[in-house]
Amino acid sequence: MKFYASILGPLLFCLDAERAHQLGLIALKLGFYPTIRKAPDPILKSRLWGLEFLTPLGVAAGFDKNADVFDPLLKLGFGFVETGTVTPKAQAGNEKPRMFRLPEDLGFINRLGFNNKGLEYYTNNIMRWSKQGGSGVIGVNIGKNTNTKDDFSDFVSGVIALSDYASYLVINISSPNTPGLRNLQSRVKLKKLLDSVILARGKANKQPPLLVKMAPDLSVSETNDVAEVAKETNIDGIIVSNTTVERPNTLKNKNKFEKGGLSGEPLFTTSTELLRNMYHLTGGKIPLIGVGGISNGAQAYEKIKAGASLIQLYSAMVYQGPKIAVIISKELAWLLKNDGFTSISQAIGADHH
Ligand SMILES: Cc1cc2nc3c(=O)[nH]c(=O)nc-3n(C[C@H](O)[C@H](O)[C@H](O)COP(=O)(O)O)c2cc1C
Repeated sequence: MKFYASILGPLLFCLDAERAHQLGLIALKLGFYPTIRKAPDPILKSRLWGLEFLTPLGVAAGFDKNADVFDPLLKLGFGFVETGTVTPKAQAGNEKPRMFRLPEDLGFINRLGFNNKGLEYYTNNIMRWSKQGGSGVIGVNIGKNTNTKDDFSDFVSGVIALSDYASYLVINISSPNTPGLRNLQSRVKLKKLLDSVILARGKANKQPPLLVKMAPDLSVSETNDVAEVAKETNIDGIIVSNTTVERPNTLKNKNKFEKGGLSGEPLFTTSTELLRNMYHLTGGKIPLIGVGGISNGAQAYEKIKAGASLIQLYSAMVYQGPKIAVIISKELAWLLKNDGFTSISQAIGADHH
């Protein structure tokens, strides 16, 4: 942590945010990251969808878009990594600059627009790892190319190509940087989309759990619709949430005027309240992954008590460095024990009981 806080972090912060991220990915790929020797506290261990999680804390989508560095990320002490968003065809994304730090707010704004190397490159990476006997929980987050007119076909292609390799699949209909994508969260479209991808998954050799990732900016009735469709279609989980297009008036950094999705600390309260509401609307019956603004053990714990079975982060790793998983897991284990829990599973949704 000290090396990151005093040397590497400040160096990376001299660079444009996207370039710094690319450099971070190269460092991970080359093996320049701290060695974590101790396994997480056993109180954090859980099973979900038949998968074992040593800690409920994972890396959120967007950090490892092309499935290049999920193995080093697992070695940093994360319980799972969600790779992607991957689209069928490679695409460059929006014009640069398109990723902005808001250091005073501990936030980020990005309008990357699903820049990624496409399904073929991505599948080869996951396939190679799986053939080499790689183990760990790797989620696959699927999106649609900006120029694809049809609403569903890209998701179906993603599910067909990746069902055999994914620990779980995510249908991402909530990124704010692909025009029209968020409209797929409306009741009728979401039902049709989920019916199509569930059908596609049924034809694969393996049927991994299927999740939907939702936006934090939906109206009350739109939120209810997502919960209703999730129940109707029997999907396996919901990720709450993606970045927000809202700009809280507490934001200080001048980058707050940039277009795109806001993440990090300023997203914590909104995304946690939505998580709480989704737990309530789904009667606690659909596993939820809580993401948005987690930067310490107390916030991780708050998401779990609000209803998250698993949690993820992205922005805080950029501000705090590669040891964040170990630190948060340790704090979370302490908080659970302090409240008398003997297993993380007992704390999921505890605020509602
Ligand atoms: C630079 C950046 C790129 C992202 N790219 C994706 C993406 O490709 N797909 C996705 O579902 N979410 C993406 N996200 C959203 C994150 O997965 C997460 O939902 C959001 O950042 C909130 O978590 P955080 O506050 O811990 O960063 C991205 C976030 C950031 C900051």
